[in-house]
Amino acid sequence: MEQKLLEKFIELFGSEGETHVYFAPGRVNLIGEHTDYNGGHVFPCALTIGTYMAARKRTDRKLNFYSMNFEELGVLESSLDDMTPKADGEWTNYPKGVIWAFEGRGMKLDCGLDIALYGNIPNGSGLSSSASLEVVTGYMLRDLFGFDVTNQDLALIGQYSENNFNGCNCGIMDQFASAMGKKDNAIFLDTSDLSFEYAPIVLDGAKIVVTNSMVKHSLVTSAYNDRRNESAQALKDLQQVCGIKTLGDLTEEEFETYKSAIKDDINRARAKHAVYENQRTIKAVKALKDQDLETFGKLMNASHVSLRDDYETSCEEVDVLVDEAWKIPGVIGSRITGGGFGGCTVSIVKDEAIDTFKERLTAAYEEKVGKTPEFYVVSVGDGPSKLV
Ligand code: GLA
Repeated sequence: MEQKLLEKFIELFGSEGETHVYFAPGRVNLIGEHTDYNGGHVFPCALTIGTYMAARKRTDRKLNFYSMNFEELGVLESSLDDMTPKADGEWTNYPKGVIWAFEGRGMKLDCGLDIALYGNIPNGSGLSSSASLEVVTGYMLRDLFGFDVTNQDLALIGQYSENNFNGCNCGIMDQFASAMGKKDNAIFLDTSDLSFEYAPIVLDGAKIVVTNSMVKHSLVTSAYNDRRNESAQALKDLQQVCGIKTLGDLTEEEFETYKSAIKDDINRARAKHAVYENQRTIKAVKALKDQDLETFGKLMNASHVSLRDDYETSCEEVDVLVDEAWKIPGVIGSRITGGGFGGCTVSIVKDEAIDTFKERLTAAYEEKVGKTPEFYVVSVGDGPSKLV
């Protein structure tokens, strides 16, 4: 892939000067959904698909952006002197946001850049194409300009830029998974203090299968931000009766004791999800370590029910995929993954059941939704790297 991208880059911007190619992965979250901005745990892993970026320093202050995924847009021109987001939500807002966030931390660019991009994560699928774009941009800036930042800083800068430049109030999970990924391991991250450990993914005779519903409902960002506000309101109510910093501080029992302090029914349901999902994530990691895949799968299924009923971030189309998956022998667990309102499910499926899984989900989905889902049997990969 990097060769094709490099050829395109040279065709667009010429061959003179030092050009490098970088990669940062997307992620899939196994369990721990909508817990990352509630001080809870998450358990994502980096994928081997992601975003490739070719980049070269310029001698002026121009920023030229080109994406092989949006060829019809051609080269989009900008400048270091115009670091404001484009209103139409153009993809360049992501790399520009990261440059803006670096500059805001005193890491000024002394020249502009030519940038060409290729991503092999399906856009809007909930596999973090934007986080991988943020992380690859930060990784490239560190390499080309010699900025003194760690991979963890790249995650924080990516999140900061998405929150403050792109207007999505996301948590840290996606950028962290992309920046800190490790082959064949998931990351058990405590978002309250960013302590983490790698947990080897040992799925004896089974694979992680991601199913793309091919739907993305509108107003996803505002619905996501609403969930965040509802959880924050529930926390405020709870803080009147108990001394917690985040919803992640509560056990299930403590939540049941204090929950009547949450005035609004919807906010109470959101908080219930956040508390129980955090505890499920802790239990799931223990189950994986104990090689108890059955328990892991049951916790994944319970996570889906909670996201569907209490957090309300699933949707009819995705529920069709999950309901069908649950009926198939050899499916260890299946749930919606990522921000929600469409996007993908993640399932753990025994090797011998993968064909049946694909056939039955396709048939059910075509019949009930009228669309054909896509399947990716994924591999767990490393964090960002310099390829050329
Ligand atoms: C999106 C956000 C993450 C996280 C998930 C839900 O992917 O970017 O920070 O909140 O949704 O778990």
